[in-house]
Amino acid sequence: MPKWRVAIGSDDAGYDYKEKIKADFLADERVTEVIDVGVGAGETFPYYPTSAIAVATHVAEGRADRGLLICGTGLGMAIAADKVPGVRAVTAHDSYSVERSVLSNNAQVLCMGQRVVGIELARRLAREWLSYEFDDSSPSAAKVAVITEYEDSLKGDS
Ligand code: RB5
Repeated sequence: MPKWRVAIGSDDAGYDYKEKIKADFLADERVTEVIDVGVGAGETFPYYPTSAIAVATHVAEGRADRGLLICGTGLGMAIAADKVPGVRAVTAHDSYSVERSVLSNNAQVLCMGQRVVGIELARRLAREWLSYEFDDSSPSAAKVAVITEYEDSLKGDS
Protein backbone atom coordinates (compact mmCIF):
# COMPACT_ATOMS: atom_id res chain seq x y z
CA MET A 1 0.00 0.00 0.00
CA PRO A 2 1.42 3.42 -0.92
CA LYS A 3 2.10 5.82 1.94
CA TRP A 4 1.98 9.55 1.43
CA ARG A 5 3.08 12.76 3.10
CA VAL A 6 0.54 15.25 1.78
CA ALA A 7 0.80 19.04 1.78
CA ILE A 8 -2.60 20.69 1.63
CA GLY A 9 -3.68 24.29 1.16
CA SER A 10 -6.49 26.58 0.10
CA ASP A 11 -7.63 30.15 -0.12
CA ASP A 12 -10.77 31.42 1.59
CA ALA A 13 -12.92 30.07 -1.28
CA GLY A 14 -11.59 26.55 -0.69
CA TYR A 15 -11.25 26.53 3.08
CA ASP A 16 -14.26 24.34 3.91
CA TYR A 17 -13.27 21.56 1.51
CA LYS A 18 -9.64 21.79 2.61
CA GLU A 19 -10.68 21.14 6.19
CA LYS A 20 -12.98 18.24 5.30
CA ILE A 21 -10.45 16.51 3.08
CA LYS A 22 -7.70 17.14 5.59
CA ALA A 23 -9.81 15.31 8.20
CA ASP A 24 -10.24 12.41 5.75
CA PHE A 25 -6.50 12.26 5.16
CA LEU A 26 -5.74 12.29 8.87
CA ALA A 27 -7.99 9.24 9.24
CA ASP A 28 -6.52 7.45 6.21
CA GLU A 29 -3.87 4.84 6.95
CA ARG A 30 -2.18 5.63 3.63
CA VAL A 31 -1.38 9.13 4.85
CA THR A 32 1.59 9.39 7.21
CA GLU A 33 1.65 13.19 7.49
CA VAL A 34 -0.49 16.17 6.53
CA ILE A 35 1.22 19.54 6.19
CA ASP A 36 -1.42 22.30 6.20
CA VAL A 37 -0.10 25.56 4.78
CA GLY A 38 -3.38 27.43 5.36
CA VAL A 39 -5.50 29.40 5.06
CA GLY A 40 -6.88 29.27 8.58
CA ALA A 41 -10.50 29.73 9.66
CA GLY A 42 -11.87 33.14 8.71
CA GLU A 43 -8.70 34.21 6.92
CA THR A 44 -9.02 35.97 3.57
CA PHE A 45 -5.24 36.11 3.12
CA PRO A 46 -3.07 34.82 1.70
CA TYR A 47 -4.58 34.66 -1.76
CA TYR A 48 -4.55 31.40 -3.68
CA PRO A 49 -1.10 31.74 -5.29
CA THR A 50 0.66 31.90 -1.93
CA SER A 51 -0.90 28.65 -0.72
CA ALA A 52 -0.23 27.02 -4.09
CA ILE A 53 3.42 28.00 -4.10
CA ALA A 54 3.84 26.87 -0.47
CA VAL A 55 2.36 23.44 -1.17
CA ALA A 56 4.28 23.03 -4.41
CA THR A 57 7.51 24.01 -2.69
CA HIS A 58 6.98 21.33 -0.04
CA VAL A 59 6.68 18.83 -2.89
CA ALA A 60 9.60 20.19 -4.91
CA GLU A 61 11.89 20.19 -1.88
CA GLY A 62 10.93 16.66 -0.85
CA ARG A 63 9.06 17.38 2.37
CA ALA A 64 5.81 16.14 0.85
CA ASP A 65 5.09 13.44 -1.73
CA ARG A 66 1.79 14.94 -2.86
CA GLY A 67 -0.01 18.26 -2.75
CA LEU A 68 -3.73 18.97 -2.67
CA LEU A 69 -5.01 22.49 -3.33
CA ILE A 70 -8.54 23.85 -3.12
CA CYS A 71 -9.69 27.27 -4.30
CA GLY A 72 -12.91 28.44 -5.95
CA THR A 73 -12.24 26.76 -9.28
CA GLY A 74 -8.96 24.86 -8.85
CA LEU A 75 -7.61 26.82 -11.80
CA GLY A 76 -5.49 29.53 -10.23
CA MET A 77 -4.00 26.99 -7.84
CA ALA A 78 -2.75 24.85 -10.72
CA ILE A 79 -1.38 27.83 -12.61
CA ALA A 80 0.59 28.99 -9.57
CA ALA A 81 1.77 25.55 -8.43
CA ASP A 82 3.02 24.74 -11.92
CA LYS A 83 5.42 27.69 -11.70
CA VAL A 84 7.44 25.86 -9.05
CA PRO A 85 10.20 23.92 -10.84
CA GLY A 86 9.74 20.18 -10.78
CA VAL A 87 6.05 20.33 -9.94
CA ARG A 88 3.28 19.02 -12.17
CA ALA A 89 -0.06 20.31 -10.94
CA VAL A 90 -3.45 19.72 -12.55
CA THR A 91 -7.06 20.68 -12.03
CA ALA A 92 -9.35 17.66 -12.15
CA HIS A 93 -12.94 17.06 -11.09
CA ASP A 94 -13.63 13.63 -12.56
CA SER A 95 -12.38 10.20 -11.71
CA TYR A 96 -10.70 9.44 -15.02
CA SER A 97 -8.74 12.69 -15.10
CA VAL A 98 -7.62 12.22 -11.51
CA GLU A 99 -6.38 8.74 -12.39
CA ARG A 100 -4.60 9.86 -15.53
CA SER A 101 -3.03 12.88 -13.79
CA VAL A 102 -0.96 10.39 -11.85
CA LEU A 103 -0.63 7.43 -14.21
CA SER A 104 -0.06 9.42 -17.43
CA ASN A 105 1.35 12.72 -16.22
CA ASN A 106 3.03 11.86 -12.91
CA ALA A 107 1.38 14.94 -11.44
CA GLN A 108 2.17 15.30 -7.76
CA VAL A 109 -0.35 18.08 -7.13
CA LEU A 110 -4.14 17.89 -7.52
CA CYS A 111 -6.25 21.05 -7.53
CA MET A 112 -10.01 21.19 -7.15
CA GLY A 113 -12.62 23.93 -7.01
CA GLN A 114 -15.04 24.23 -4.12
CA ARG A 115 -17.40 26.19 -6.39
CA VAL A 116 -17.24 23.52 -9.10
CA VAL A 117 -17.67 20.13 -7.50
CA GLY A 118 -19.78 18.80 -4.65
CA ILE A 119 -18.06 17.90 -1.43
CA GLU A 120 -18.79 14.18 -1.58
CA LEU A 121 -17.32 13.91 -5.07
CA ALA A 122 -14.29 15.96 -4.02
CA ARG A 123 -13.73 13.66 -1.04
CA ARG A 124 -14.10 10.57 -3.24
CA LEU A 125 -11.66 11.93 -5.82
CA ALA A 126 -9.12 12.76 -3.12
CA ARG A 127 -9.47 9.25 -1.73
CA GLU A 128 -9.05 7.65 -5.17
CA TRP A 129 -6.08 9.90 -5.92
CA LEU A 130 -4.15 8.35 -3.02
CA SER A 131 -4.49 4.91 -4.60
CA TYR A 132 -2.55 5.77 -7.76
CA GLU A 133 1.20 5.54 -8.17
CA PHE A 134 3.15 6.53 -11.26
CA ASP A 135 5.07 3.68 -12.87
CA ASP A 136 8.53 4.82 -13.94
CA SER A 137 8.75 1.86 -16.33
CA SER A 138 5.50 2.75 -18.14
CA PRO A 139 5.40 4.29 -21.64
CA SER A 140 4.24 7.52 -19.99
CA ALA A 141 7.66 8.03 -18.40
CA ALA A 142 9.33 9.06 -21.67
CA LYS A 143 6.59 11.63 -22.25
CA VAL A 144 6.87 13.16 -18.80
CA ALA A 145 10.64 13.22 -19.30
CA VAL A 146 10.19 15.66 -22.17
CA ILE A 147 8.62 18.12 -19.73
CA THR A 148 11.45 17.64 -17.25
CA GLU A 149 14.08 18.02 -19.96
CA TYR A 150 12.53 21.28 -21.13
CA GLU A 151 12.40 22.55 -17.56
CA ASP A 152 16.04 21.56 -17.02
CA SER A 153 17.04 23.35 -20.24
CA LEU A 154 15.77 26.62 -18.74
CA LYS A 155 18.09 26.42 -15.74
CA GLY A 156 20.77 29.05 -15.89
CA ASP A 157 18.90 31.11 -18.48
CA SER A 158 18.12 33.93 -16.06
C1 RB5 B 1 -11.35 33.68 -5.57
O1 RB5 B 1 -10.26 34.50 -5.33
C2 RB5 B 1 -11.07 32.79 -6.76
O2 RB5 B 1 -10.62 33.54 -7.83
C3 RB5 B 1 -10.04 31.73 -6.42
O3 RB5 B 1 -10.48 30.98 -5.32
C4 RB5 B 1 -9.75 30.73 -7.51
O4 RB5 B 1 -10.94 30.23 -8.05
C5 RB5 B 1 -8.79 31.15 -8.51
O5 RB5 B 1 -8.45 30.44 -9.45
